[in-house]
Parts: sequence; structure tokens; C-alpha cells
Amino acid sequence: MIKPSVLLIGVDEDIKQLLENIFSKITITEISLDLQSIQNVSREISPCFILTNSPNTIDSFSCLELSKLLREKFDQLPCFIYFKTKEGFQTNLLENNGFNEVFLLPSDHLQLQACLSSILSTFSQGTISLYRSVKLIDILPGDTLNFDTSLYLPKNKKYIKLSNSGESLDLERIERVKNHDFSTIQVTLNQLGEFYAYTADRLKKISNSDISATEKSDRLKLAIRDLMRNLFNDQDATEESGKEIMKDCSAIVKSYILQESNSDWYHKIEQVLGQNGDHYSHAGNVSTLAVLFGIGVGVGNSEDLAIAGLLHDIGITELPFNIQNTLPEKMNSDELTEYKKHPELSVNLIKSRKILVSDQVTKLILEHHELFCGDGYPHQLAGNSISKESQIVTIADRFDELTNARDPSIKSLSPSKALKKLMEEQYEVPSKIKYNPELLKEIVALFS
Ligand SMILES: [Fe+2]
Ligand SMILES: [Fe+2]
Repeated sequence: MIKPSVLLIGVDEDIKQLLENIFSKITITEISLDLQSIQNVSREISPCFILTNSPNTIDSFSCLELSKLLREKFDQLPCFIYFKTKEGFQTNLLENNGFNEVFLLPSDHLQLQACLSSILSTFSQGTISLYRSVKLIDILPGDTLNFDTSLYLPKNKKYIKLSNSGESLDLERIERVKNHDFSTIQVTLNQLGEFYAYTADRLKKISNSDISATEKSDRLKLAIRDLMRNLFNDQDATEESGKEIMKDCSAIVKSYILQESNSDWYHKIEQVLGQNGDHYSHAGNVSTLAVLFGIGVGVGNSEDLAIAGLLHDIGITELPFNIQNTLPEKMNSDELTEYKKHPELSVNLIKSRKILVSDQVTKLILEHHELFCGDGYPHQLAGNSISKESQIVTIADRFDELTNARDPSIKSLSPSKALKKLMEEQYEVPSKIKYNPELLKEIVALFS
């Protein structure tokens, strides 16, 4: 079998790294993003797909000229283009003019990965499959899985099939997974979407089941812990693997939320946030963590927590530019007064953009900087007058700040160190408790 070849046009290093597991299996021909280089590329290379960066304003040609040339040269080949900003990102126009799909990276990275992996698998007639290790939570014998599962044998560097899509795992095979050193199962990249949907469905089924409240809470805690375990295990967690786990969690949360509601609002919010670059990953992380914490401790409505997490800081974009780019700890008192308006600005912005959110979401956003001791803002609420749901967003917010420091001079903490730090902060000044103590204890206990 010949190694499939692909043509990359002006693809950035960070994107190549993002798709490393795909590119390591294939022969790559790389050219720079200009029309002359494309003209000159040999037809002999016959790639199985083409991935191109998008020309920007300083290039003297447009996406449409690029697609025209590619189509003249490569006719029917699958051809994908990616953007890193929203500028020129016009999915329909580009898809009608020669590109098979258009991606906005890094946020569409999983979709692109699944798409390329499926082409490779078809092209190689199944001999090239790209796997990701995943964690099957709360798996029951007889559960039908809509994806293939495999185990990886590190000694032989081989994958062995455990079950085919549409089959269920029987007790024996589940025991095999649990008893061997295989803590994880391998799923092919093009079936990751089905895996996310399955996990979301499992969580939902436990939440809605008729079992006793204690059993339900135990099983939910276990499931959340399973999902996030590697995040909180310092020995295994590297920054990269941590990011992958967060991506998985966010895909699961998205699937969980969208199972019950229509997806319009989610995509609308993503679009609004997508324009604000930096804030997006923080917003996405807070949303994911708030939902998982909420499910794990049995507090709050997941959809409300997800939306509040996504939108809590959106008002920051209304603040003067210098304030947006300064950390609160480094602000002078005037700047800080301005900054503290952001929860209210977020709510106003949501109203003005006509994003329909419930009163509960508005409340969570308004209260995300209130502190249990009463020293928070904007309304200096204290104790139980701050809702537990709001405190979940507050804790998720602080947790993401600690693990993803915005300022390069501040070191990001590993998730388990961040949990410790949260506990330290809580009791730094005993009369000034920051978070709802019961709730914080329960969240920390989820991972201990
Ligand atoms: Fe905030
Ligand atoms: Fe925040």
C-alpha cells in the first residue's frame, strides 16, 4: 500500500501541530500560498486531499481565485480551506465555489480532524485508521455503541478491535477493558462525534433515571471524575493532553446541552464570541467546567450554566482597550471601578444583541464576581443571598484563570494545583471566605 500523499498550501506550523496525528501518517508536499507555486506544483503528486490556508488582505489574490486555480489543476480532489479570523470566512460562498469544506481554526479543529481522518480511512480502504484514546464512562453491558472500539497493545504497538459500531459490549468484554491495564478505549477520529454523543447520552440517562438520589449522585460523580480524571492526575497530565481533555469535555457538554434544546442559540453565541478571539477559550472553558461541576454536584440547570459560562465576560469587550488588556491586579483604582462594571455590561450587551437568555442566566452573569464574604461586586451580596449556581460559575471562572493564566509573567497551574490554590484562597483570611464553603468542598471532592 502506497502512503497517501497530501498537498498543504501555506499551512501554518501551529495548525500542522494541531493535526500532527494525521500528518505523521502521510507523505506531505508543501508549497507556499501564492498562485505561482500552485501553478508550478507537479500533477504527478496526486494527493488524496488538499488543505490550504486562506489568502489575507496583503496577498494580491482572493479565495475565489485560489479555488478556481485549484479546480483547474486538481479537478475533483477534496479541497479544504481554513481561516484563523472571521475575515473572508464565508462558508456558503466558498463551498459553492470549489471548496469541499471551510473551517475556522482552532475552534473547528475537531471537525477538520474528523473530516481528514475519514478521507484517509476511505482512501486507504481502512488500512489507515487514526485513533484517539477515550474514556467510556459508566458503561453497561448491552449498551449499543454507535462507534467501533479497539484496544491498544503497547508491547506489539497494535490495535485490536473490541467491538464494531452497532454492537454492544458484553460483560466479558467490559471486564477485559477494566481488568487489563487498558484504562482507555481507542476510537477512530472520524467516529469521535458519535463517542461524544454517547457520553452525553450516558450522563443524561443517569440524571433522568429512577434510581435513588444517593445512587444517582454517586454515579454522576464517578462519571464526571472519569471524564476529567487525567486532567487532575499531575503525573499523566501534560499541557497538551490537558487541552485535549478539555476539548473532549467541551464537545461532550455541547452534545449534552444540544440534545434537549435547539442548537440555534449555541451557534449564535459561538458566532458572537468567535469575533472576540482571546475571550473565547476562557468563555468555552468556563462554560464546560460550570456544566461538569454542576452535574457532578447536582446543582443548577446545565443549559443555564453553559450559556452563562459562555457569556459571563462578554461585557469586557465594551471596556476601553487599555482596561481590556490589563489584569485587574495591575489596574489603578479608576480602571478597576470601570472593570467592575463588566457583569452589568455583559447583561446589557446580551440584550442589545438580542440573544434571548432566561432570567436565571442573567442572574448568574450578574453574580459571577460576588463573593461569599460580601466583598464581591457589583452588589456586594453575601452568603446564601448569592445563588449556588452563580457560585459554580464563579469557581469555574477562577479555576480557568488559575490554569490558563492570561499574563505570560504568571505561571499557569496544573488543574490539581489550581484546586489546592482555590482551597488556600478560600481560607486565607478566615473572616473573608470567598466561595460557598459547602459547594467548594463538594467540587474539590469530585476530584480527590
Ligand atoms: Fe468576569
Ligand atoms: Fe471570566
